[in-house]
Amino acid sequence: MSELERDRREIAAVLQQPGVRPDPSLRITRRTFVHRSCLVGAATVAETFAWWPLLNTLDVAYAAEAPFKFAWISDTHLYPKSLNTRFVEKTVRAAKEVQAMSPPADFLIFGGDLAQLGKVEELELGVEILKEVNIRKVYIPGEHDWYLDMGKKWGELFGQPNWTFDHKGVRFVGLDTVSRGPDYWTAKKMSPEERMGHMATLDGTVAGPWAGVGRDQLDWLQKTLANWDRNRPVVIFSHNPLYEYYPPWNFWVRDWREVNEVLKPYTKVTNIHGHTHQVLYNEIGTMRSIGMLATSWPWPYAPEGVPKLTKPMIRVDPGDHFDGVGWAKIDVSAQDKVDAEYVMWRKQVYAQSPDDYAKSIPEVLRPRIADGIWPY
Ligand SMILES: [Fe+2]
Ligand SMILES: [Fe+2]
Repeated sequence: MSELERDRREIAAVLQQPGVRPDPSLRITRRTFVHRSCLVGAATVAETFAWWPLLNTLDVAYAAEAPFKFAWISDTHLYPKSLNTRFVEKTVRAAKEVQAMSPPADFLIFGGDLAQLGKVEELELGVEILKEVNIRKVYIPGEHDWYLDMGKKWGELFGQPNWTFDHKGVRFVGLDTVSRGPDYWTAKKMSPEERMGHMATLDGTVAGPWAGVGRDQLDWLQKTLANWDRNRPVVIFSHNPLYEYYPPWNFWVRDWREVNEVLKPYTKVTNIHGHTHQVLYNEIGTMRSIGMLATSWPWPYAPEGVPKLTKPMIRVDPGDHFDGVGWAKIDVSAQDKVDAEYVMWRKQVYAQSPDDYAKSIPEVLRPRIADGIWPY
């Protein structure tokens, strides 16, 4: 058996121990926020669905001291207004809808990629738009916010990229998964704009495996959690998913195994991430990960990798008017296991996931794609 094969088997053995799953006493419900008028008639749907879905709300129940909601917006990818009004308008709409939530969300997390090319005017435009939201706001960076000036403007506006606070019995942690990219620009004498250009593409051939947490931040995370009871809930926000989904698009953090080591003792860990611009759900050991929608555009699902898809992407369409409608395949097995797979055609499909936690969700580990691409 090759060393690589042994490595893979070991990962699978460590992460796929029978019966090890996220603790069901922390239940996270994910809904796509739909304007109420969407539900009452086709005419109104036509009027409003162009804005839908724009934001993601989560209920945290049971393990928290009191149930509460918070809102997530990410991946607005703002250009200056003069270049692109679509993304601006969608961000404005999302901000208005968060502000209109009743009862209000306890806070808003902005999950990164506020700007498209990291420009001062793009970031400032984002701040201006999000002023509409009058509740507590916390921010983590995306790669689009960072690589023009290496986080200078972002830091001036939003402060530390990693942070923690406790809220109603839940420890929240914001991680910076974008700033530790390996230097591919100095040797090639790239300008900041050229560097940013490589970060702004989905295919990271030049930028390489830039997504990572970093040893220093892992140590910080460990310290941050050290005084937290291992059976109390932890919610971690990160721009990139904290597992290996698809490295060529940086749909991962390269040190996800180390992250898993730090988090393993905690039984109720939920990772909520952006960057993938699509509906995702995955479990590794006791950690569940939930991928959130972008307001700007949907990325396609990766052609291979973890996880096996268990939830459909709800397409937001930036241009394909045949995108997103469809039908569903429902598979009911003899063990009363029901698996639904949506085959989307178009977006006037109202999707609601009442509970992400279900015994029918499998976790599938595939061979590590990164091993064949970026030896490190
Ligand atoms: Fe993004
Ligand atoms: Fe991103």
